[in-house]
Amino acid sequence: MPSERRPLIAGNWKMNGLVADGMALAGDVARRYREAKSPAFDMLVCPPFTLIGKVAEAVAGSGVAVGGQDCHRDAKGAHTGDVSAAMLKDLGCRFVIVGHSERRTNHGESDADVRAKAEAALAAGLAVIICIGETEAERDGGRTLEVVRTQLAGSLPEVGDAAAVVIAYEPVWAIGTGRTPTNAEVQEVHALIRRELTGRLGADVANGIRILYGGSMKPSNAKELLALPDVDGGLIGGASLKGSDFWAIGESCL
Ligand code: PGA
Repeated sequence: MPSERRPLIAGNWKMNGLVADGMALAGDVARRYREAKSPAFDMLVCPPFTLIGKVAEAVAGSGVAVGGQDCHRDAKGAHTGDVSAAMLKDLGCRFVIVGHSERRTNHGESDADVRAKAEAALAAGLAVIICIGETEAERDGGRTLEVVRTQLAGSLPEVGDAAAVVIAYEPVWAIGTGRTPTNAEVQEVHALIRRELTGRLGADVANGIRILYGGSMKPSNAKELLALPDVDGGLIGGASLKGSDFWAIGESCL
């Protein structure tokens, strides 16, 4: 990855962790990052809502950032069970993930929903990680680039600070399966995303936007994935739940 983009290693804990586990994991990640003394990559953990406040306290001062896994499109109101971007910010979050494929599938979120959430996040002063990626049937049907282009076009915010946007390319069939695309396939999609961003936002902005790869990233494949020219970090699920594995992925950037 080129030096103008600082790698971002982001852990998506999904619906995992009670207080004791979450505190132990956050403490471990914070200690490793602090002891590494300003490593040349950013590190982010995205715990479930219930742990965000405690995790933010546990990592405070370490340099590790905290993020949410989703937010509502509205700032407040009658939305039982939902959480707004301002609430995440209030607890110490700097990032929020939107449009994860598990949200798109399990909660029927459309590109328009994802865009509205991304705009809400930017308006609240959060950086936003927008997830896109094809299903296995779409890849087998030769539609990967078309699907990714369409999702990106529909999910990108139309207002707000584009410099606070991060894109995560996550092939749905690679999430939690141990399977990944080839390096060439990953780079092909990331290059397409960069081209689309350039067309929309201009080269200066697009060259500063980080494009993460997600889907079965682990210590054994991280180095080669993170070395691809348009891969600027990772969004890591399973391997982010073990401090030593998550840290090993971070060190693969160096
Ligand atoms: P995984 O999940 O690393 O467990 O494949 C990635 C993600 O869903 O963000």
